[in-house]
Amino acid sequence: MCGIVARIGRGNATETLLSSLESLEYRGYDSAGIAVQNGSGVKVHKCSGEVSDLKSSLDHEPHGNMGIGHTRWSTHGPPTDENAHPHTDSAGDVAVVHNGVIENYDELKAELQENGHEFESDTDTEVIPHLIDEYRSETDDTETAVRRAVDTLEGSYAIAAIVDGEEAVYAVRKGSPLVLGLGADEWYLASDVPAFLDHTDEVIYLEDGDVVVLEPDSYRLTDAEGTPVERSVETVDWDPEDAGKGEYDHYMLKEIHNQPSSLANTIDGRVDDGEISLEEFPPGTFADVDTVQFVACGTSYHAALYGSQLLRSAGVRTDVIRASEYETATGPVDENTLVVAVTQSGETADTLDAVRKGADRGGRTLAVTNVVGSTIARESDDALYIRAGPEVGVAATKTFSSQAVTLALLTQRLAEDVPEASPPGDQAEMLETLADLPAHVETILESTHAEELAREYLGSESYFFIGSGLGHPVSLEGALKFKEITYEHAEGFAAGQLKHGPLALVTEESPIFAICTGNADGKTKTNAIEAQSRGAPIIAVGSADNPIADVAETTLEIPDTHPVWAGLLANVQLQLVSYHAADLLERPIDKPRNLAKSVTVE
Ligand code: F6R
Repeated sequence: MCGIVARIGRGNATETLLSSLESLEYRGYDSAGIAVQNGSGVKVHKCSGEVSDLKSSLDHEPHGNMGIGHTRWSTHGPPTDENAHPHTDSAGDVAVVHNGVIENYDELKAELQENGHEFESDTDTEVIPHLIDEYRSETDDTETAVRRAVDTLEGSYAIAAIVDGEEAVYAVRKGSPLVLGLGADEWYLASDVPAFLDHTDEVIYLEDGDVVVLEPDSYRLTDAEGTPVERSVETVDWDPEDAGKGEYDHYMLKEIHNQPSSLANTIDGRVDDGEISLEEFPPGTFADVDTVQFVACGTSYHAALYGSQLLRSAGVRTDVIRASEYETATGPVDENTLVVAVTQSGETADTLDAVRKGADRGGRTLAVTNVVGSTIARESDDALYIRAGPEVGVAATKTFSSQAVTLALLTQRLAEDVPEASPPGDQAEMLETLADLPAHVETILESTHAEELAREYLGSESYFFIGSGLGHPVSLEGALKFKEITYEHAEGFAAGQLKHGPLALVTEESPIFAICTGNADGKTKTNAIEAQSRGAPIIAVGSADNPIADVAETTLEIPDTHPVWAGLLANVQLQLVSYHAADLLERPIDKPRNLAKSVTVE
């Protein structure tokens, strides 16, 4: 986890570093810090808390044309001022920011301490500036010292370092993301593109082992052996406005409201005259696949459950495995197994680990992700992009919708290609109705009474979400969203499972959201009525004529559509309920406690 940034060029770096860090706060917000070079030493400013706390702790704008910055999600050591990055060597000449985990830091620290190095923090990162300092005393060349330092590290890292008296930023990447931004007369480094999107859309996605030296007028890129490497310059097609909050109070609300356009982008050009047209995957691409294994975490896991139901109903053998459980939960894997990693960020450590294990066992790998150039996209055999645009709110919203639609389209291609599978009979109708999905979301956004409902049930003991068929993954997603941003107790169940235990928790203080997709709603109704007879208020989430409407207190209404898309519309209503409940409870919606958007530790 954590976000790192660096900038070198003309003019003062501080403002850019601080605003870049704000764009990366979704990666962690336990502490923040910057270090700038200003001709009279390396100046470090850091504190626990958010970037806004760092800003208000600065009594002047630190001056320097180059610097590094960090926003932290704690792994080694609590979120204190001392543990905030940048970290320095004993003399304060070398400052380093780091995203990743150094596994052998204990032994390195002991050796360095024996050599007289003094440490101030509990972090694994602090060994890095001390190592660079140690090797600088053996060679005059900082680049060589940086290379020797990283050679001793075990684990994953994206590192940026500055050194007193040198107009240069040194950076290395292994196992954690790092992107180089090429501005008109300045260079940027960051864990993710939104950090510098205001300044440039020209980027180089660095590869593992790459070492970069940025100087004010040039940059040098070499591999781990020191051989110069060429990396292609790509143009990012994200609008800088996509990465900002705009007129909204929270990124989450903005991203919920962005769904008509993000979904239109996901669909664009992929359905042509009633046929699937996945540019990257022409017909026949998956002719040798006999089993599909989805691996994913959290919200992406729910999207994978959604996709897997569609795939199974088309007759394709399918497993869905929580990525963190892959080691023990996977069945046989061979060259006919397609391991599909579903991950918004493309950096989730558990998912990366699962997909690597799947590849080691001989499987073919496919990443379904939002982030071009992410580790998973580069490591997998193929990548299919969900094209949702940048998502900053920690709670995933628009990316779930785009993941589910992308998986539904992938399902159609697989069902056409995989021997003995066949697309469902109503494929034409399903694809035809997909075009209306963005407009249907718009209708919900304009007409919803989610806020009123959130207010009515505020203060309940628990919130339950039930659904059957495609309503089941939506019930799980509805509950996950609710708990992560409101901190209230919420659980999702397959409707028929309620009576096998959870019903014991049901009281008049536990509203039940019953999701109707137009398919398999009978079970949802029976179980909702059973809960209602124990006093629970029932809220139907479905079309106006959903079968639960007549017994429910109220319906959160969705436009009529094909059952495959209905669950996604129901989910938009549930996103809004969660958002408004959290807002009424004054929770930090975009930065829920203990969480971060991209979980790069196992
Ligand atoms: C919940 C949420 C998380 C992520 C999970 C996987 O709102 O965002 O559950 O879905 O951490 O992240 P990705 O999709 O980046 O692999």
